[in-house]
Parts: sequence; C-alpha cells; structure tokens
Amino acid sequence: MKQGPLILLGDCRKFLEPKLFEEKTSKKVDLTFLDPPFNQDKEYAEWDDDLPEDEYWRHMQEVCSKVSEITRTGGSIYFMQREKNAEQVLRCLRESGWVFQNLIIWKKKTSAIPGIYRYGKHYQIIAFATKGKRARVFHRLRIDPPLPKGYKYEREDGMYVTDVWDDIRELTSGYFSGDEALRDKNGNRQHKQQSPIQLLIRIILSSTKPGDVVLDPFAGTGTTLVVAHQLQRIGIGVELDKANVRLIQKRLEVERDADNILKFLKSYECTPDLKDIWPLPNYETEIIPDRKNRKKQQTLSKLKHYRLLARTG
Ligand SMILES: C[S@@+](CC[C@H](N)C(=O)[O-])C[C@H]1O[C@@H](n2cnc3c(N)ncnc32)[C@H](O)[C@@H]1O
Repeated sequence: MKQGPLILLGDCRKFLEPKLFEEKTSKKVDLTFLDPPFNQDKEYAEWDDDLPEDEYWRHMQEVCSKVSEITRTGGSIYFMQREKNAEQVLRCLRESGWVFQNLIIWKKKTSAIPGIYRYGKHYQIIAFATKGKRARVFHRLRIDPPLPKGYKYEREDGMYVTDVWDDIRELTSGYFSGDEALRDKNGNRQHKQQSPIQLLIRIILSSTKPGDVVLDPFAGTGTTLVVAHQLQRIGIGVELDKANVRLIQKRLEVERDADNILKFLKSYECTPDLKDIWPLPNYETEIIPDRKNRKKQQTLSKLKHYRLLARTG
C-alpha cells in the first residue's frame, strides 16, 4: 500500500530539528534531495535570494548538518548546485559529516550560459554523499541511450549509468519546457526552478528501495514527492512558500499525464532486478517482450544492410 506524501509548510531549518522532525514524522530519512535557491537574486516570495555569501553557506551547512542527524546510517544526500559553487558544496557536506561519493555532472540538453571571458556553462553539479563510508542502498542502473554516430554494433544490454548525466532534459524557461512545467491559465510557468521528473527517477531508483523515506527540504513544486509516491517510497517535503504548498497539493491530487513516470520505464529496461526497485503489477508485459522484439528487428535490418553492401561491392 502506498503511503501518501507529507508536506510541511515552513522553514526547513525549523522542521529538520531532530526532535520536531521526529514529532511530525516519526521517521528516519533514507535519501535527501537538496535543491535550494542558488543565491543568484531570483524572485522567491518568501526567501531572500541575494544573501551575503557567508550567510548563505552558513544556512546550507546548517541544513546539511540537520539532515545528517535525521538520516539513517548509510543514507544518502544529493546536493544540486551551480558548478561555480562546487568547492563550497563539498566543504559544506564534509564539515557536516557526510562522506563524498560522486560529483555528478548533469549536462544540459539545450540551455547553456554563454561566457565572454571564460567558456560557456553547460552543466550543473549534483554532489552525492552518504552518512558513513558506504551507501546502505545503491542500485547500479543500466540504460541504453542512442549509440553515438559511427558506432556499428548495438549494445547487447545497455551500459551502467556513470557520473555524467547527459540524457536528462532540463525544463528550460521558455516554450521548450513542454508539458511537464506547471503553468497558470495564461501559460506562464508557476515555478521557474521546477526539476524534471526524470532526474528524480534516477536519484530515487539508485539510492532507495520501495518503502524507504525520501526527503526534500526545498520542495518547490513537489517533483520529488510526485516521483517518490509513484515509486512507492514515502515522500516528505518542506516548503516555505504557501503558494507552492498549494501547488504541490494540487499536483499530487490531480495526477497529470505529464507527471506519469511510466514513460521513462523503458530507459531502464536493461537494469537487473528492475522489478524489485520499480514496483509494477504488469512488469513483464510492459517491457520485456517489446525489447526482445525490437532487438531482433534491429539485428535483422543490420544483416539486410550488410548483405546489400556485400552485393553492391
Ligand atoms: C530551487 S527551488 C526547488 C525546486 C524543486 N526542486 C522543484 O522541482 O520544484 C527551491 C524552493 O525552496 C523554497 N525555500 C527557500 N527557502 C526555504 C526554506 N528555508 N525552507 C523551505 N523551503 C525553502 C523556495 O520557496 C523554492 O520553492
């Protein structure tokens, strides 16, 4: 049975106090996704996004320390930030007791920030760390992205996900953000920092099992909760802005097609034991026969192509 997500309205620094967190949730956390405002003077109704550097990083350190206290040994944290802040992120995690595992490069598909005096910027960082030396849960996901141009042979069984994620499309600010971005009646985006569900699918599948607790202290539009719920994890989100909390509640109530994670199931069909981490009633009929058929068709059309080449010399 899926347990509904819990949404807390207020400052996460208050709710992450171990005593209050225990009182409100009676849970220990297995995974945290940290996507705070980046302190780049963006418009937030309830948060000053232009704090002095020192103050901003003191806040972040406080959040990381509190999250560590309420996390189970072996639990994980994924801290997303701009690449220029990599040094501060790693320091923040280290000084609050987290053990570094990977610095993930999330390479954007379309958007880049041009540079005049340095190279343009084309990725964001996600620091992955654990409470203790090793993760309690880490699933080695396999994906099967399109072959690079010039590659002759299909992969038999996909490839392991590495620390460079270039297959997840960001929700850009304009028209190209597509159906997934939440919009008001006039078509304007309701939250400019909404993360793509694909990103949370990868993080939650990698670092939790069904039934585990997933925390998002800066919940925004609730992407983490929407994905955690569909993957049968227990989602807990904290959000400072009332309007965003209403947005999350509505997003969870009215299940939009654009939020349905099933369309990404196929990307992980090469992952061993996928059915243990992505619970589904009709798993076999969903993807297995389809993959076998597809691969057979691909091999046949390749053979045809080579025979033709051989004949024409
Ligand atoms: C970058 S956005 C997160 C976007 C989110 N990942 C999503 O998919 O929608 C950061 C969010 O944190 C909220 N916020 C800022 N300070 C906060 C605080 N101290 N406690 C809780 N939420 C906070 C902001 O209102 C904003 O919605």
